[in-house]
Amino acid sequence: MLQKALSMIVMVMQCLLSSSKGLDQSPLPSNFLFGTSSSSYQYEGAYLSDGKGLNIFDVFLHKSPGSVIDGSNGDIAVDQYHRYLEDVDLMEAMKVNSYRFSISWARVLPKGRFGEINWAGISYYNKLIDALLVKGIQPFVTLFHFDLPQELEDRYGGWLSPESREDFQYFADLCFKSFGDRVKYWATFNEPDYVATYGYRLGAGPPGRCSKPFGNCSEGDSEKEPFLVVHNIILSHADAVEIYRTKYQAKQGGRIGIAVHADWYEPISNSTEDTLATERARSFNFKWILDPIIFGRYPKEMQEILGNILPKFSSNDQEKLKKGLDFIGINHYISFYVKDCIFSICEEGLGTTRTEGSYQTSPLGKPTSLDWQYVNPQGMEKTVTYVKDRYNNIPMFLTENGYAQSNHSNFTKEQYLKDFNRIDYMAGHLDSLQEAIRKGANVKGYFAWSLLDNFEWMQGYTVRFGLYHVDHATMERTPKLSASWYKDFIAKHRTET
Ligand code: NOJ
Repeated sequence: MLQKALSMIVMVMQCLLSSSKGLDQSPLPSNFLFGTSSSSYQYEGAYLSDGKGLNIFDVFLHKSPGSVIDGSNGDIAVDQYHRYLEDVDLMEAMKVNSYRFSISWARVLPKGRFGEINWAGISYYNKLIDALLVKGIQPFVTLFHFDLPQELEDRYGGWLSPESREDFQYFADLCFKSFGDRVKYWATFNEPDYVATYGYRLGAGPPGRCSKPFGNCSEGDSEKEPFLVVHNIILSHADAVEIYRTKYQAKQGGRIGIAVHADWYEPISNSTEDTLATERARSFNFKWILDPIIFGRYPKEMQEILGNILPKFSSNDQEKLKKGLDFIGINHYISFYVKDCIFSICEEGLGTTRTEGSYQTSPLGKPTSLDWQYVNPQGMEKTVTYVKDRYNNIPMFLTENGYAQSNHSNFTKEQYLKDFNRIDYMAGHLDSLQEAIRKGANVKGYFAWSLLDNFEWMQGYTVRFGLYHVDHATMERTPKLSASWYKDFIAKHRTET
């Protein structure tokens, strides 16, 4: 009897010990990718070097410099084209095991499929990929991160035309063929909703088209355009996946997915109306892209609201979409409250109104010195869990997450280097991500946006997202405190088999 009681006590103790060990232990799986993220236009510069063609950002920002707060552009950006070896050393110093970057389409195909391959461009990416691999850093490549060759815009209106699909197929095939022996992670597109919103709804970015009544540009007035553009992008994703699956995947053994912009949304009250509105907000954000790719149709909230404005998938398209994806890339930064505007009136001054979705959003979280950036670490766990539950726990990568410092004119470099707010942000979001993983989310990697301070689209160089500070006059890179914080975090959590 006594023996039985003793063995029970031993069992309970063991159980307690192992569960507390479980809490201490990193829930991050072995071979988890720890990386930083970037994109060609925001980093490379060298916009006319070695045979590169012009892309829509090169042309648009030269024509309308006023569309960027500081009138800047990515002509030089952070000059990674010439400094990639130094940048790979910076990555090695942090002990990351992956780097996410995108391929500048016009650098490898200056005129799309209507011209020659630019071998100097191919050679640049070969050198970058090889330099990464020598240091044990896995390349994680995005094919399209906003910089469409201008030639395709001029010839047929870029993503508005189904012809863009043929060009993307040609480009994707060239990339798989040239780099797929060494690249094992491919994201076809980055944030298709951004392309639609800035380029075709608000007219704030190239090609500067807007859909009334949202934008104030004179060109373009079709409310259908943002939806048509994303439709062609979704089908181009499916085309690229088909090419990869049929011609390359078995031989090269990589994985292919897409990176979506996924903010966290939650109802501003517990009313049914605000709850329904929240689902609409998610639909007009990431479900717009992921539902068609994974379920073969647009989210029902979008169908109900948009009716015929929303393009339809033919049965052929749906067949093609079944090729799906191997992973979902999640770009997550911020959170919003959502208020319904169908059953009640949108409130002036409450936040941004999305008329077509009939909801209003307002920021959720701790304010920062930037009016669009609020910090809510729980949004990470909630977003990942939502994506996990909706899409059957398909493998996920956090392809972007990061914190922007505003470029105070009176800030010294030393002040930027002490980026405690960024450390808080990353620590909070990584804790929250680990919580989601503990509860079963199949997350395989995390990429901080960004390695370096870089060109931040319409905000130019006025905000700094880097773990490394860049002096934009000299291009000197200096680690901020967050770089050594991330290094320690990686050292504590990285396990390889
Ligand atoms: C999303 C985009 O993919 C990236 O290009 C941008 O710089 C970051 N978010 C930060 O806004």
